[in-house]
Amino acid sequence: MNTRELLGNPVSVKIVDIVQENSRDWTLYFKNNQPSLEVTPGQFLMVWVPSVDEIPMGICHFNKETMGFTVRRVGEATKVLSTLDVDDWIGIRGPFGTGYDLHGDSVLVVGGGIGMAPLRLLTNQLLRGRREVDLIIGGREASELLLYEFGSASKRNLEIHICTDDGSRGIKGLATEVATRLITEQQFDSIYSCGPEMMMHEMFQLSRKKGIKFQASLERYMKCGCGICGTCSMDPNGALVCQDGPVFSGEELEKIEEFGKYHRDEMGIKRKF
Ligand SMILES: Cc1cc2nc3c(=O)[nH]c(=O)nc-3n(C[C@H](O)[C@H](O)[C@H](O)COP(=O)(O)OP(=O)(O)OC[C@H]3O[C@@H](n4cnc5c(N)ncnc54)[C@H](O)[C@@H]3O)c2cc1C
Ligand code: FES
Repeated sequence: MNTRELLGNPVSVKIVDIVQENSRDWTLYFKNNQPSLEVTPGQFLMVWVPSVDEIPMGICHFNKETMGFTVRRVGEATKVLSTLDVDDWIGIRGPFGTGYDLHGDSVLVVGGGIGMAPLRLLTNQLLRGRREVDLIIGGREASELLLYEFGSASKRNLEIHICTDDGSRGIKGLATEVATRLITEQQFDSIYSCGPEMMMHEMFQLSRKKGIKFQASLERYMKCGCGICGTCSMDPNGALVCQDGPVFSGEELEKIEEFGKYHRDEMGIKRKF
């Protein structure tokens, strides 16, 4: 795509369905107006919220007819998105960025909080490929868990492990603690993660220790979403989260010094995790 195509006007799409997932998260489904569009799990959209802002959202659902993302209400734009109705319009650009590279027969997927959103599309694709999937869904408390439905046909090769920090649902403890136990008991070819950066950093170290292929989806402040403004660049190699990521392999993460340490806010000021 050239600059004009990347930064051009967003495509207007009409919301066709909304599902409230829990107390903080809503999944918005809209018509896929571009039948030739291809999406790799892990890619994201720049979502234009009319009169408010344009913000990045991971794609959690995609087929020839419809697409969707799950929004967690944290500030102005996400609040407006969470209060939209069926038949309202939003704008989308994308999909942008890298997706997860599907690898291995026995895989561990680790999602924390809203990080479960892009992992839904990934998990569905892994299951369609008949891989054995252990999925850890973590959250601070029960009301924040993103518990998507996976079709009953998939359940044969899917094992879901739910955990909460406060023990209000599932295992009491962190997703990384559950992952540590599973990795000790089972053999995995690949680990995929998305969620709080400290969680992903711990998973990265664990995978390194055990020699398991690792991929994680990072979040950084984004403006253009497509490699032009430089806002999302990381130290020291200038890797752009919107273009070289958001999904990075373990080998790529080795070279990113700020991973698990700090990010930059909208003013470019360093903020520790
Ligand atoms: C690749 C990627 C995928 C994402 N996927 C999802 C998703 O599937 N669901 C979801 O709920 N959220 C997702 N986010 C985070 C989401 O973009 C922010 O929560 C949102 O932009 C907040 O906007 P706001 O106006 O509601 O809040 P604000 O009050 O403006 O910001 C709240 C916090 O959100 C972050 N943020 C704000 N603006 C941006 C921006 N333009 N780019 C990145 N971070 C920002 C900052 O850390 C800020 O402190 C994703 C972010 C990235 C980078
Ligand atoms: S957001 Fe502009 S270069 Fe990444």
